[in-house]
Amino acid sequence: MAYTREYFQASADFLRTRVDFTPEVGVVLGSCLGPFAQTIENPIVVDYADIPHFLLSTVASHAGKLIFGSVEGRKVVCMSGRFHSYEGYSFEELVIPIRVLKLLGVKTVILTNAAGAVNRDYRPGDVMVLRDHIKLNGDSPLRGPNLEDFGPRFFDVSRMYTPELRKLALDLSKRSPLQFHEGTYMFFPGPQFETPAEIRAARLLGADAVGMSTVTEALTAVHCGLPLLALSVITNMAAGVLDQPLSAKEVDEAAEKISGAFSDYMKTIVAAI
Ligand code: HPA
Repeated sequence: MAYTREYFQASADFLRTRVDFTPEVGVVLGSCLGPFAQTIENPIVVDYADIPHFLLSTVASHAGKLIFGSVEGRKVVCMSGRFHSYEGYSFEELVIPIRVLKLLGVKTVILTNAAGAVNRDYRPGDVMVLRDHIKLNGDSPLRGPNLEDFGPRFFDVSRMYTPELRKLALDLSKRSPLQFHEGTYMFFPGPQFETPAEIRAARLLGADAVGMSTVTEALTAVHCGLPLLALSVITNMAAGVLDQPLSAKEVDEAAEKISGAFSDYMKTIVAAI
């Protein structure tokens, strides 16, 4: 389907009837990183199912709610639960949430995800600030007729993970008990985890971590001119790094374990942006 601006505007107009302020920062929370959402003061919660033209989360560890409110005195909107291509959504559909945030007036986007470590120096529980990404799989979410209202047909992605925000994130990491890195995220479509051979190939290509989300949202944000920060919580060593099978349980448990410290760190970022 070819979307029009009005299509996205219908979602934003509905949300404006529920919320009487303009959020400055839009946050997308990855698997089990929900505790940040619980720190939002005076929350206004809107179920995705109630928003016209929005998508529905089908993954158990994703809540499926937009939460508006304040964090450290800043107005935020937080997507507690995101959408992935492995749920059956097309890349084209995956532009919807970020475009709605843009129409709501958000000025900065922070994307978070759970990821597997390809870099052998990383450990579960570490955090990676995305410097760049590799996406060899799948289309661009910006494929199809271009909506000039959002951005140009051809757009630069050489600074898509905003350098100033990356610097801020690394500076603030010094105050966090967590271990931080800056690195390259490689997108795999899932839902299967990668094969050990795919992980060896990813390492050869320069990837530090792998995951099944984030790049569609990142490309959509950059296309419409939104400054962007993306953070991976390392939940496991990627396939074949250790001599053991991967499981969703391991990913969820690792994310849950650091979600408190990660949420504290996120608050310092929102306060400083
Ligand atoms: N691969 C892909 N996605 C992931 C992983 C992984 O190892 N861990 C958490 N999300």
